[in-house]
Amino acid sequence: MTAFRPFDEKGTPIEEQAMSWKELVTKPYDKVSVDPHTRTRIILMNGIENNATLTKHALARLSPDPSIRTALANTRRVESMQQQAINWFNPAHQTIVETTLGFEQVAVDLTANLAQNEEDPYQKATLDFALLEDFDHLYRYALLYRQMEGGDAREFVKDTVEVKPARPTRVHHRHPSDEMRKSWNKNTASPKTKMNYFTIVSAEQQTMLFYKEHGNMYPDELARGLYTEIADVEEQHVTQYEALGDGSMTPLEMNFLMEVNEAYNYWSCAQTESDARFKQFWEAMMRDEIGHMHMAMELLQRFEDKDPVKILGGDRIETPIVFEETKGYVNKVLEEQRDFQPYNMEYMPEQQVPREWRSFAYRDRLNGDWTPSEVVVSRSRESKGKEKVTVRAGSR
Ligand SMILES: [Fe+2]
Ligand SMILES: [Fe+2]
Ligand SMILES: [Fe+2]
Ligand SMILES: [Fe+2]
Repeated sequence: MTAFRPFDEKGTPIEEQAMSWKELVTKPYDKVSVDPHTRTRIILMNGIENNATLTKHALARLSPDPSIRTALANTRRVESMQQQAINWFNPAHQTIVETTLGFEQVAVDLTANLAQNEEDPYQKATLDFALLEDFDHLYRYALLYRQMEGGDAREFVKDTVEVKPARPTRVHHRHPSDEMRKSWNKNTASPKTKMNYFTIVSAEQQTMLFYKEHGNMYPDELARGLYTEIADVEEQHVTQYEALGDGSMTPLEMNFLMEVNEAYNYWSCAQTESDARFKQFWEAMMRDEIGHMHMAMELLQRFEDKDPVKILGGDRIETPIVFEETKGYVNKVLEEQRDFQPYNMEYMPEQQVPREWRSFAYRDRLNGDWTPSEVVVSRSRESKGKEKVTVRAGSR
């Protein structure tokens, strides 16, 4: 596939980007017939837009110049509309836990795709590391789905991703200081490394927010517990991924790179989208983002006299983000790194980590005498036992 060349793309002027309520509220997809990877693209782009909106609010609060605030307000209003239009593609007949399965499928398939197209070895190792945690979350939520709604997660994802235990969730809980990572350097990192960073931070942040906003909507104590436990891991994932970014990026550099990343993500979606209606939508949104990118470039040049090509690190991004089956890659990482932990910012088997590591005590404190991600497994075994008894009783 071809490379993405943001500076060669034609954008839509900001004045033409506001959407009517009718354009914001359109027909949702059907959860049964939808291509599972169309659903993952929708979940991802909702996360990308939410991050654009939230980051721009934070940047505006830190920007004293009124013209910067005005420019941010103008593009941010569109980010916010894009986010709503996309999130409203999700249908009401898709339950919270079904949408959750979609979120963890995004985490697995997206992370695996980014890791396979990441040239910075440390950022790749970090993606591989968290991949096995999200893969395990998918399994725990699948058990909850069966127990609460009688659903089959494999059927729901149409077998596009495997559902099985990975690094157990109970050992994901670490001391916050152990979520620190080594950062790449903004002057030497490749455009793709920068894009992968913005993409994964946005996706993980949205997952965290979704679990925190929805975990209290089930009456079942175990469901409430599992969402609490996994939302906390997603908070760790956001922390570790954002630690990879160069903290010396200026607000206007970050604003520019974020716009390029939005455009790049939409362009990637359009390359592989199987649904004609959504493909058209992704293309239109990509043109909006090119419009935002030009506004961000103007701010960069005016206030910091910087060359956008230098800030990106080149004029193109070599490969699109593709949602496709990643079973082979995931299994290989699982085989090699199942029991890894991050000790002193390096990944190694847990057996090699000294016993006094602060994360061991921290994890024991959190797990206490109730770990929902373990209970969901034992409850599943119990109900399986009961099923067998019922079958036997009936067949006699
Ligand atoms: Fe956007
Ligand atoms: Fe997860
Ligand atoms: Fe995650
Ligand atoms: Fe944007």
